[in-house]
Amino acid sequence: MSDQYKFILDENKIPKAWYNINADLPVPPQPVLHPGTKEPVTPDFLSVLFPMSLIMQEISPERWIEIPEPIREVYKLWRPTPLMRAVRLEKMLDTPAHIYYKYEGVSPVGSHKPNTAVAQAWFNKEAGTKALTTETGAGQWGSALAMACNFFGIDLEIYMVKVSYHQKPYRRVIMQNFGAEVYASPTDRTQYGRALLAQTPDSPGSLGIAISEAVEAAATSGGAKKYSLGSVLGHVLLHQTVIGLEALQQMEMAGEYPDIVIGCAGGGSNFAGFTYPFLHQNFTAGKKTRVIAAEPASCPSLTKGKYTFDYGDTAAMAPIVKMYTLGHTFVPPGIHAGGLRYHGMSPSVSALVEHGDVEARAVKQLATFEAAVQFSKAEGIIPAPESAHAVRVAIDEALACKQNGQGKVIAFNLSGHGHFDMMAYDAYHNQQLEDYEYPQALVDEAMTHLPEVKM
Ligand SMILES: Cc1ncc(COP(=O)(O)O)c(C=O)c1O
Repeated sequence: MSDQYKFILDENKIPKAWYNINADLPVPPQPVLHPGTKEPVTPDFLSVLFPMSLIMQEISPERWIEIPEPIREVYKLWRPTPLMRAVRLEKMLDTPAHIYYKYEGVSPVGSHKPNTAVAQAWFNKEAGTKALTTETGAGQWGSALAMACNFFGIDLEIYMVKVSYHQKPYRRVIMQNFGAEVYASPTDRTQYGRALLAQTPDSPGSLGIAISEAVEAAATSGGAKKYSLGSVLGHVLLHQTVIGLEALQQMEMAGEYPDIVIGCAGGGSNFAGFTYPFLHQNFTAGKKTRVIAAEPASCPSLTKGKYTFDYGDTAAMAPIVKMYTLGHTFVPPGIHAGGLRYHGMSPSVSALVEHGDVEARAVKQLATFEAAVQFSKAEGIIPAPESAHAVRVAIDEALACKQNGQGKVIAFNLSGHGHFDMMAYDAYHNQQLEDYEYPQALVDEAMTHLPEVKM
């Protein structure tokens, strides 16, 4: 074991290929269905929204997919990211566990999201795309894609969930600074947005609604615009695997190997990006690392949702996939971890939970902020509220080690910093945050609106 606390890789250790878990999934991938016909989609249908290169990555069975050099060049702006041993946190908790975290908050916009934003913008550029549409919840994804589109000269139209648009005005300014257009969703720019506003004029919006608007804006643009998604899809998770591939090398530098790896899960991208390379070791090299996905009790898709076919968006325009879902009609409470408010979960993460390769754990909001504050006091970094869910689970596991006298090695992904989330921290310090558990009755009701699929 090393006596260092900070593990920094040379630039030439940025991975040269992404890891594609499709090659190792213990269960066959489920078909993606057309939202209208409910039959398996063809690449042609998807090509209205995505360039063929990304569609091919989505269905590729190849274990390793080469990272084009221009993408690695941009990655060099902030990659490799550091792996840190949280020694001060270990002391504070008085635990025999060793706690490591991979810090993705050092990217220019403060999270893991640019790992795929840069890749998606580059592949779109190569395919001749001039403009993209997207949605953003907390603003991290929108900021990342705005930066990436700016690098590659692509116009960008962003539908930002209304509650976040008002809670996080400076995220909007970052996107505008990179030249993106930002709209508070639901908007009157799309047919779906107008219909929704007519019914619910004060709708706070949701990620599912913003996705519907961004998809509609691209699908009805007559080919002028393509669409980009910041999580959930296979190619997004694929691009994020640079996180775990670097972490594997850094754990080797540390002279330890994790017994437990943890990531927070909204749509699953940072979780998969960090943990799938360790799962690869479980599947192919006899390792037995426990893999835990942390989610909020207020949006508990993995722990309270159903594993079934559902639409990817609220308007039922996006493809139908098999995943853990709270129902596409889910409109979440305005909890502060905006990036974890999606009704579903990436199909591969869902399949791995269903198969027992990944554990899922829901944590409550107050305990999550308590962990985030404890972490920042120990390590000096203020976690994004989303990442704080992983911090909570890591601390809980370290405390369990203390109780059992077990010196386990715990590694988690700190997916972003919380510098634009200080209103949420302020609310926490002023006792204005409450715990909210999503009621089973609402899940049961939403299940009556699932698409009827013959599978
Ligand atoms: C910092 C941060 N972490 C995690 C997430 C959740 O997304 P995903 O599950 O795709 O990593 C978000 C989403 O906005 C985020 O901003």
